[in-house]
Amino acid sequence: MKTNDTLTRRSFIEKVATVTAIGFAAPPLALPGEPTPAPARPNSRIHLGIIGAGGMGQGNLNACASQPDVVVTAVCDVWPDRRDAVVARFKDTAKGYGDFREMLQQKDLDAVIIATPPHWHTLLAIAACEAGKDIYLQKPMTLHLAESLAVRNAVKKHGRISQIGTQIHAGENYRRVVEYIRSGNLGPIGAVRTFNVMNQTPRGVGTSKENKPPEGFDWEMWVGPAPMRPFNRILVQDAYNHGSWMDFSGGWTPGMAPHIIDLPIWALDLGYPLVTSSSGGRFILKDDGDAYDNHEVLWQYPNLTMTWMSSLTNSYGFDLHGKPVPQRRLGIYFHGANGTMYADYGMFKIVPEGDKMKDMQAPPKSIPPSPGHEREWLDCVKSRQQPSCSVFYHVKVDVPIVLSLLSLKLGRSIRFDPVKEAIVGDKEAQKLAVPEYRKPWKFPKQYLAA
Ligand SMILES: NC(=O)c1ccc[n+]([C@@H]2O[C@H](COP(=O)([O-])OP(=O)(O)OC[C@H]3O[C@@H](n4cnc5c(N)ncnc54)[C@H](O)[C@@H]3O)[C@@H](O)[C@H]2O)c1
Repeated sequence: MKTNDTLTRRSFIEKVATVTAIGFAAPPLALPGEPTPAPARPNSRIHLGIIGAGGMGQGNLNACASQPDVVVTAVCDVWPDRRDAVVARFKDTAKGYGDFREMLQQKDLDAVIIATPPHWHTLLAIAACEAGKDIYLQKPMTLHLAESLAVRNAVKKHGRISQIGTQIHAGENYRRVVEYIRSGNLGPIGAVRTFNVMNQTPRGVGTSKENKPPEGFDWEMWVGPAPMRPFNRILVQDAYNHGSWMDFSGGWTPGMAPHIIDLPIWALDLGYPLVTSSSGGRFILKDDGDAYDNHEVLWQYPNLTMTWMSSLTNSYGFDLHGKPVPQRRLGIYFHGANGTMYADYGMFKIVPEGDKMKDMQAPPKSIPPSPGHEREWLDCVKSRQQPSCSVFYHVKVDVPIVLSLLSLKLGRSIRFDPVKEAIVGDKEAQKLAVPEYRKPWKFPKQYLAA
């Protein structure tokens, strides 16, 4: 039967959606079996704080603070200039802190945005949960397998509401792609390829001779649980630069894969990968960083394989992206028996296998638009339902990424038992999956026994 949604073969093939990805979010998902101990409070105002008031944190804060039911009450940053500038914007309601432990004791504080560099995410997320605060945690959720499970378990144990900062999940285009994949039009999908590429050659993020922190900057606290190293201005500037250091960001795979592999994991309802293989290195870039400039990953799931490529040395976005120019490109290819779908944040294209898709119809829109990624979280803070990118969903995005880093480190494949959530047959990998934090910080092993 033909409907208004029917596409001609030509328009179907050339279908390109160009919807802005930012600014929408999925409706809350109530996941069965998860605790919702705090009573819902639909009419109350949310007292909001932020830990890490840099570029992304301020973006998240602005999105929340513009809502009529949000009051900003606390701002924490180890960089006084940044902290004070944000406190000044909310001077009637917000207190400033340099130490998150003090801030989390504040009574009129319901929920916190955590937007520090990634090496801090686990400790801060767990500390916030223990203090009874809901969390909007920036991606990457964590950098190690044990961290990923511990954050998920802490959210569960303390009955908190969590949202990981993969805002593209809230976009219209991802919704349309998920509907197409789930329609079955592409047939069974045996392979998925994903990538993020940009050309940073030859100088990468550059080099800095500035080895003295700015006045009042708490370098000891910035480094926190990571290995101590000399201050570096480029490293502390923003996340774009953290991506060049392993100890603080894990490189560009945790930097970008959370947004990108999110789409196939959502569309295909993937669980954990059974095997993760990875290879790469720092081949070409010469800058102050130490992370790989090329990283290739192969994940084996029960019914398909998925690959990931991160390159900082070449920006070719594969054929459907047109002429190579030195800019950042990313994408996801779904290879099905009937055709291939290519997607990025704002568009998708379909290339049929011969005439196998000639009678296909576009699936109806079934996934409702969202009120915004942050707004969705705020709504859930009130309703006590879990949002679409809660840790209970996002752990399936984070675990493949952290296993890929472990595989890269060890130079061998990692086998994973998805039921036990444990690495199989590799004692060294099991040991390395639990990070050793620099004293006085300790990895909270108690959260591994869920
Ligand atoms: N979702 C996205 O599209 C997106 C985009 C960019 C960055 N990010 C993520 O957001 C996070 C922050 O990135 P950014 O670009 O804002 O970095 P940034 O360096 O600009 O900001 C981080 C801030 O955290 C502060 N900080 C560090 N340790 C702290 C501590 N212990 N307590 C309090 N403050 C501390 C720093 O002083 C800095 O001001 C990263 O995890 C990054 O991956 C996400």
